[in-house]
Amino acid sequence: MDELKNIIRDVPDFPKKGIVFKDITTLLADAKSFQRMVDLLAHRYVGEKIDKVVGVEARGFILGAALAYKLGAGVVLVRKPGKLPSETFSKTYQLEYGTDTLEIHTDAIRKGEKVLIADDVLATGGTMSAVVDMVRDLGGEIVECCFLAELDFLGGRKKLPDGKVFSLLTF
Ligand code: PRP
Repeated sequence: MDELKNIIRDVPDFPKKGIVFKDITTLLADAKSFQRMVDLLAHRYVGEKIDKVVGVEARGFILGAALAYKLGAGVVLVRKPGKLPSETFSKTYQLEYGTDTLEIHTDAIRKGEKVLIADDVLATGGTMSAVVDMVRDLGGEIVECCFLAELDFLGGRKKLPDGKVFSLLTF
């Protein structure tokens, strides 16, 4: 697991001064690491009969689509406002300063479907907590929220359902 951790690049002062950004593009661009990430995560959910994998814009799409393909599930997109063409359901959530909104198609998940939610990084947990609410409001049954990496020191996990969070790597 250290190999996967070490290939993630630290970018100082991005997107703002004082923040060290975990840049996963270096992991994605390395064929072996990308394959290992997808295989390790998918392995956890084999046999769970996942109906839909929800990917969160933008890097969550990459992980979500790869996992859905491996698990034989459909892919559902959670997008930033104004990007989805059909009828949407939206959720606004709190950021450190201000708010943000995410959208999902209202017919993307049917009542009782087993849903895995995927994103690259769990930071403050605001994003994933909004996605959890949207999936539940549509009647989806959340199997787990999975991440490539979790920034443990930000405590995002506390905002998410107990026992339904898995991160491959922890920083
Ligand atoms: C990043 C990351 C998660 C979210 C985590 O996305 O991919 O979706 O932030 O942060 P949180 O736990 O504090 O909510 P970002 O908003 O940078 O969007 P992008 O993937 O489209 O660049």
